[in-house]
Amino acid sequence: MNTSSTNNNSAIAPKIRNGICFTINPEGLARMVQRQITAARKLPPLQNPPKSVLVLGCSGGYGLSSRIIAACTGGADTFGVSFERSPGDANQGTPGWYNNLAFDNADCGNNSRSITLVGDAFLPEVKTATIKQAQEAGFAPFDTVIYSLAAPQRKDPHSDTIYRSAIRPIGEPFRGITINVGTGHVVDVVINPATEEEIKGTIKVMGGEDWELWLQALNSANMLAPGVKTVAFSYIGPSCTWPIYRSGTLGRAKAHLDQSARSLQQLLAPLNGTALVSVNKALVTRASSVIPAMPPYISALYAEMKERGLHEGCFEQAVRLFRDRLCTDGPIPVDAEGRIRLDDWEMLPEVQQAVARRLEGLTNDNLHHKLDFKGYLADFLELHGFDSF
Ligand SMILES: NC(=O)c1ccc[n+]([C@@H]2O[C@H](COP(=O)([O-])OP(=O)(O)OC[C@H]3O[C@@H](n4cnc5c(N)ncnc54)[C@H](O)[C@@H]3O)[C@@H](O)[C@H]2O)c1
Repeated sequence: MNTSSTNNNSAIAPKIRNGICFTINPEGLARMVQRQITAARKLPPLQNPPKSVLVLGCSGGYGLSSRIIAACTGGADTFGVSFERSPGDANQGTPGWYNNLAFDNADCGNNSRSITLVGDAFLPEVKTATIKQAQEAGFAPFDTVIYSLAAPQRKDPHSDTIYRSAIRPIGEPFRGITINVGTGHVVDVVINPATEEEIKGTIKVMGGEDWELWLQALNSANMLAPGVKTVAFSYIGPSCTWPIYRSGTLGRAKAHLDQSARSLQQLLAPLNGTALVSVNKALVTRASSVIPAMPPYISALYAEMKERGLHEGCFEQAVRLFRDRLCTDGPIPVDAEGRIRLDDWEMLPEVQQAVARRLEGLTNDNLHHKLDFKGYLADFLELHGFDSF
């Protein structure tokens, strides 16, 4: 596979090295955002639509799609916060910067307003600026707060300490296979277990502490509406992914998110509000594409779910989040642990059994027959604005 050939629709070519794409096609990103907006506008109205929505991590993946559904299907004013780099003399910026631009310039067809703040959401001053800008713009107190951050590091709000997240197993090394996204070849991978500091750092970055700080700040500023709903995203997945995810550093961070949901439930009780973790489907996003050993699983999942007509992207997951969970009459459907389960179709036993069969005895010769790596790569390229080869 030639990963640096000229893309058919653009003069800019994707350049992939070590699983990272170093080029961006801004026009392709604008088209991707517009496609979601067009689809969102065609959906039937939401039963109890949100009116004022804050999306933390609004520029890509789950956050972007949630924002599009809230604004373009629900008609809500949306305030988005994300950490992206604008283009400069020597760099193209980051994909999310173009996604934000495309969203802010688009027409949802319902006069919904959008404000996008680019800044480090972990910093207290960005929380203060968000509240100030939303109030000055006359945003109603938020009735929905989506927490969709996926970050490599976080500065401690009270000191100069920088916490870094690490995607590692705990206790034992992980030995498995992955697919090199640049070459499309199956490769062995060994990942050493995390140190205590890496475990602690990942919990600080990807756990729920910052989610709680956001809700506390919004509450103190009277920027939460009665009945407010806040949702943070998590992942569980099947046991074949647990060594690197659920039983690893990320899993510890997601367990902390569950604790934070319980703490937030108490904070929001006087407002009759709800704090929920939503367990979502495994998909190719900027965040997930750096998780080692996920490409084979996601490619097998794509193959199986597409074959069964069950496949969803971030957009379809966001549709179900708002339409079938957050905006219905009556209680929000949750599992025994109180979590929203948008991974319900991924985790169907028949899907998981078939996925496991697809992953058995994987080689370079049978990879494209057994898995949908083509679909994985297409999604990966789309994150950077490129069409498939
Ligand atoms: N992708 C998956 O397969 C998957 C599955 C289930 C759950 N999730 C969870 O969904 C959430 C969102 O992940 P995603 O896959 O959509 O990721 P993504 O990379 O597409 O989006 C991450 C967002 O976080 C923002 N961000 C990162 N650091 C920031 C900072 N310091 N300040 C402000 N914004 C910052 C980015 O700008 C971006 O908008 C994560 O919690 C992730 O664990 C992802």
